[in-house]
Amino acid sequence: MREGHSTYKPKTGIERWFDARLPLPRLVHDSFIVYPVPRNLNYAYTFGGILTIMLVAQILTGVVLAMHYAADTTLAFDSVEKIVRDVNSGWLLRSLHSNGASFFFIAVYIHICRGLYYGSYKSPREFCGYSVVPTCW
Ligand code: HEM
Repeated sequence: MREGHSTYKPKTGIERWFDARLPLPRLVHDSFIVYPVPRNLNYAYTFGGILTIMLVAQILTGVVLAMHYAADTTLAFDSVEKIVRDVNSGWLLRSLHSNGASFFFIAVYIHICRGLYYGSYKSPREFCGYSVVPTCW
C-alpha cells in the first residue's frame, strides 16, 4: 500500500462509516486495484507469488500426508502404499506433493536468476532483495 497516499473514496454513507472503523475495503483497493508498480516489471517477477502459493500447497498436502505417514523404517513403505491405494484421493495428494516439490525448485531457480539478472547484488539494496530500482548507479 502507498503509505499516506490512499486514493480510496468511499461513496456511500455506510462505506464511510465502515472505512472509519475497519478500513478493509481501503486496504484491498490500495493493494490490488490502485497499486503503483514500476513499469519495467515483467512475467519473471511473478515467481515470488507463484512460490508463495506453491509453499502453501506443499504445506497443505504435506500436513495431510503426514496424517497417514508412518515415520518408521519398518512401516514407512507400507504407509506410503496405503496412502496411494487406500486413502481417499491419497494418490492425488502424493502426486501433488512430490511433483510440487520439483516445480518448487524450478520456480526457486527462476526466482533467484531473476533477482540476480536484475541486479539484486547491487548497492544499495544488496541485503533486502528489492531489485526494481534504476540500474544507473
Ligand atoms: C516447501 C515445502 C516442501 C517440499 C519441497 C516437500 C518435498 C517433499 C518431497 C520431495 C517428498 C518425497 C515425495 C515422494 O517421493 O513421494 C516429500 C514427502 C513427504 N512430505 Fe514434504 N515437502 C514440503 C513440505 C511438507 C510439509 C509442510 C509437510 C508436513 C507437515 C510434509 C510432509 C511430507 C510427508 C509426510 C512426506 C512422505 C509421504 C510421501 O512420500 O508421499 N512436507 N516432501
